[in-house]
Amino acid sequence: MEELLLKPRTLEHVKIFWEKSQDEEIERLFPFNRGTLSDAIKLYEESLKPGARSFGKVIYIDGVYIGDVWCYGIDENDDKRAFVSIVIFDKTYWGKGIGKRALKQFCQLVFERYAINKLCAFTYIDNKRSIGSLEGSGFKKMEDFIEDGVVSCYFELSACEESL
Ligand SMILES: CC(C)(COP(=O)(O)OP(=O)(O)OC[C@H]1O[C@@H](n2cnc3c(N)ncnc32)[C@H](O)[C@@H]1OP(=O)(O)O)[C@@H](O)C(=O)NCCC(=O)NCCS
Repeated sequence: MEELLLKPRTLEHVKIFWEKSQDEEIERLFPFNRGTLSDAIKLYEESLKPGARSFGKVIYIDGVYIGDVWCYGIDENDDKRAFVSIVIFDKTYWGKGIGKRALKQFCQLVFERYAINKLCAFTYIDNKRSIGSLEGSGFKKMEDFIEDGVVSCYFELSACEESL
């Protein structure tokens, strides 16, 4: 099995990720609010400050940088939850079980690092790989909903289920 490592994000990763994820197929599967490169750099710098509400890692397979996994909306005080997203920008690595492994590792890390009880995720109902990798790493579907005419799914992983 390939060696999967989650490493700290650097400014160089932010630039590569921004360029590589400028891709119609990725944007269709995962409509993140992209903004400019300088917006992405600003968000990255914010994420390094103490008390930041987001935290990310970069995914390496056999020494190759292939994508990012991150959480946002971290709330340790009231809702005790955070939201998770993952993008493998190098499509040659899709469908090989890497997303599932990366999510598992990352969720474990986040539960150790933050005082939260659950992780939440959204995806489109026709994004089978995303749903498969979420379910494969322990997330449970809580509901389907329609947003802008598209059916989306909301998933949760609770801290106790993650450790099973
Ligand atoms: C979503 C993403 C991270 C998933 O990672 P991945 O490595 O491609 O997915 P995995 O190989 O881990 O697939 C997980 C499961 O999905 C299912 N799956 C994989 N490919 C599939 C396909 N083509 N059709 C249907 N199901 C599929 C399988 O059940 C698999 O589980 P298994 O290994 O137990 O059989 C990756 O495809 C990606 O970056 N896509 C673009 C961005 C995106 O959609 N992000 C999601 C935001 S939440």
